[in-house]
Amino acid sequence: MKSLYFKVGILGSGQLGRMFTQSACNIGIEVSVYSPEKDSPAAKSGAKEYTGEYTNFELLEKFLENQNALSFEFENIPSSTLDFLINYQTKQNIKIYPNPRCVQIAQNRKLEKNFFKEIGLLVTNFFVIESLEDLQKLPKDWKFPSILKTNLFGYDGKGQWKVNSVLDIETILHEQKSFDHILEEIVPFEKEISVIGVRFSNGQIFCYPPAENIHTNHILDISIYPANISESLKQKAIRYTTKLLESLNYVGVLGLEMFVVEDELYCNEFAPRPHNSGHFTMNACRYSQFDMQAFTLLGVVPSFDFSFQPTVMKNIIGESFFQNKQILTNYLYNPNYHIYLYQKAEARKGRKMGHINYLGSFENSKFPIGTDWKV
Ligand SMILES: Nc1ncnc2c1ncn2[C@@H]1O[C@H](COP(=O)(O)OP(=O)(O)O)[C@@H](O)[C@H]1O
Ligand SMILES: [Mg+2]
Repeated sequence: MKSLYFKVGILGSGQLGRMFTQSACNIGIEVSVYSPEKDSPAAKSGAKEYTGEYTNFELLEKFLENQNALSFEFENIPSSTLDFLINYQTKQNIKIYPNPRCVQIAQNRKLEKNFFKEIGLLVTNFFVIESLEDLQKLPKDWKFPSILKTNLFGYDGKGQWKVNSVLDIETILHEQKSFDHILEEIVPFEKEISVIGVRFSNGQIFCYPPAENIHTNHILDISIYPANISESLKQKAIRYTTKLLESLNYVGVLGLEMFVVEDELYCNEFAPRPHNSGHFTMNACRYSQFDMQAFTLLGVVPSFDFSFQPTVMKNIIGESFFQNKQILTNYLYNPNYHIYLYQKAEARKGRKMGHINYLGSFENSKFPIGTDWKV
């Protein structure tokens, strides 16, 4: 039977797919997710689940046949799958937002940093390593310690090492049995900020004002909205995000991470999807980043004329939060806190298990910095 409803497929089925499903279901969209995972967080919130490898093109095609539009909650998808989607899009009547080419740029640090540079955005000083011989070309005045990162598929600080010398780098490359890396000088930033930007298929753009991000062990810990930075920096961050959206001819939601150094902004990376630092939008304002993702896919442009409340987002990472039920109830029964748990089957160290939004200032939130939850 032909469905009354618009059907959206999502590649990936974790917490971002789950929160998208929750937003999209409310406006009647039917959501299906595709990933190698079973009983995923997205499926537990009502998405139809397809389980398969990203390179199982037969199954992927069956999944796509049932969708009016496709989007992503995860950028670390094999490049061959993205090529398959680019090809599929030219033959079939399906909207794929963002364009898989934007995902290919975002998952590859070299392409991403070169793209930032091409469009005139500042980036951290970086050096490309594609073989051991390349290390001999490292400039003599290169500053150590620096950060070695895998070129592809890094997330939540995975695939990153602080290195003090060329010897350190050689050791790691040998252990990794891969030479596809970049070396980055450490930026002595004052703050990290991010902007969630949205571009619709008619070219209209909306940027949420910047949030300020605190990382613990290279994983986002706390996001504070609004960022405590000057008005001119806020405007610059929004200009940079707008420039990125336009230059990519992007349709959908993205998150741009930046380092603040005096009155300059260095672009670190962008995520071609809703971003963890944008979860404040679920309670701070009229439409969340997930609502916006749904609107871009449906092809409707909402009114951008809405106001924001100061909000602080704290991630729940690993198992400590779950070990004491008292912590959960403390937050659950306090009306200033909004709690979101992702129903992941296992609480592993460093794994994002949920988040809490607090309506108010960081000081009043009393959120601990780090993952050590105490009552
Ligand atoms: N060049 C750098 N200088 C200083 N801090 C950095 C640098 N690169 C990464 N970091 C820190 O590590 C965090 C994670 O690195 P990032 O490049 O964003 O990778 P991931 O894909 O894991 O999020 C950043 O948010 C920042 O706190
Ligand atoms: Mg990052």
